[in-house]
Amino acid sequence: SEALRVGLAGLGTVGGGVIRLLDANRELIARRAGRAIEVVAVSARDRYKDRGVDLTRFAWVDDTTALAQQADVDVVVELIGGSDGPALTLARSTLNAGKSFVTANKAMLAHHGYELATAAEAARVALKFEAAVAGGIPVIKGLREGAAANAIGRVYGILNGTCNFILSKMEAEGRDFAEILAEAQALGFAEADPSFDIDGVDAAHKLSILASIAFGTRPAFDTVAASGIRHLLGADIAEAAALGYRVRLLGLAEDGPDGLFQRVHAHLVPVDHPLAHVTGSLNAVVAEGNFVGRLLFQGAGAGDGPTASAVVADLIDIARGEYGPPYAMPAASLVAAATADSGER
Ligand code: HSE
Repeated sequence: SEALRVGLAGLGTVGGGVIRLLDANRELIARRAGRAIEVVAVSARDRYKDRGVDLTRFAWVDDTTALAQQADVDVVVELIGGSDGPALTLARSTLNAGKSFVTANKAMLAHHGYELATAAEAARVALKFEAAVAGGIPVIKGLREGAAANAIGRVYGILNGTCNFILSKMEAEGRDFAEILAEAQALGFAEADPSFDIDGVDAAHKLSILASIAFGTRPAFDTVAASGIRHLLGADIAEAAALGYRVRLLGLAEDGPDGLFQRVHAHLVPVDHPLAHVTGSLNAVVAEGNFVGRLLFQGAGAGDGPTASAVVADLIDIARGEYGPPYAMPAASLVAAATADSGER
C-alpha cells in the first residue's frame, strides 16, 4: 500500500532524530505500520545549517506554516515549539486541511489542546502528542490506552529532566544551583528559556496534559499551580537527606473531594519511594488506577533518540489508521478543570 508521507516542521535536535530513526529502522517500521513512512518535505528557520543529516532528498518549504498545503504531505510533524506563533498557525492549518498532526509541543497543548482536539475530531483526523510528555516514555499511550478501563485516583511524577538533573547533582556533589544549571543547558535538554524548566512551567505544561488524559479535563495551563527549584540551597537538600528524604520537583494531579488538584512544586520524597531513585535527567510517572493498581513509567524524558521514538510511534499509529479522540475521550466530553487557587508561577 501507499507510503505515509510526512512534512516535518523544525529541524532541531528532535527533528534530526526523527530523520535518523526513520532511516535506521525503515524496514522494521514499514513492517509494523503495514506501509512505509517517508519524510517528503521539511521546513525550518535556517536552511543551510549543518544538522548531520542529508536534507537534499526532501522538498524544502520556506514558509513553515504552508507545509500542510503541500499536496503530497499526508501528515505534519511539528517540532518548532512555542505555545503560539508558527506552531499554532501550522497546527490549525493542518487540521483544517483535513490532515493529521503530530507534535512534541507541550506548551501549545497546555494552552490550546482542547481547541486543537475539537478541530481534529471535526476533521476526523489524528492529533497525537506522545513526545510532548516525558519524551520517550510511552505514558500518554500507557494511560490513554493501557489504563483506559480504570478510574485514576492520582497521577504524579518527575516531569522535568533539567530540574531532576540539577537536584541529583546538588545532592551528590553538594554544589550550587547556578553552576549545575549551566551544565544542564550544555547537555541540551533545557528549554530555550531555562526559566520554564527551573520555575516549574515546563512540568506544569506536561501535568495539564497528563491530567486531561487521566481525569477527562480540558488541558488548561492556568489551572496548575506551579513553583520551581530556584530557591533551593545545597543546605536544604542536605537537611532533607539527613531526615531520610530526597528533594524532587513533582507534578501531581489528584481527583479529590474538592475537584481536580494540579500542582507542581518541590517535594520531600522518602528514600524508599521509587521516585527517590530516579536520578539525572530521567523522568518517571506514577499512576494509580482502581483496577490495575500502581503503575510506574520511567525512562528518558528528553533527547533526540527518545523523543524521536515517541514521535515515530505516533506516525506508526496514523499509518495504521488509528484516529481515535486525541485525549482519553471525545473533546465534547472533556470538562473544565477548576482554576488553581494558590501557588506562584
Ligand atoms: N526541558 C525539558 C526537560 C525537555 O528538561 O525535561 C523535555 O520536555
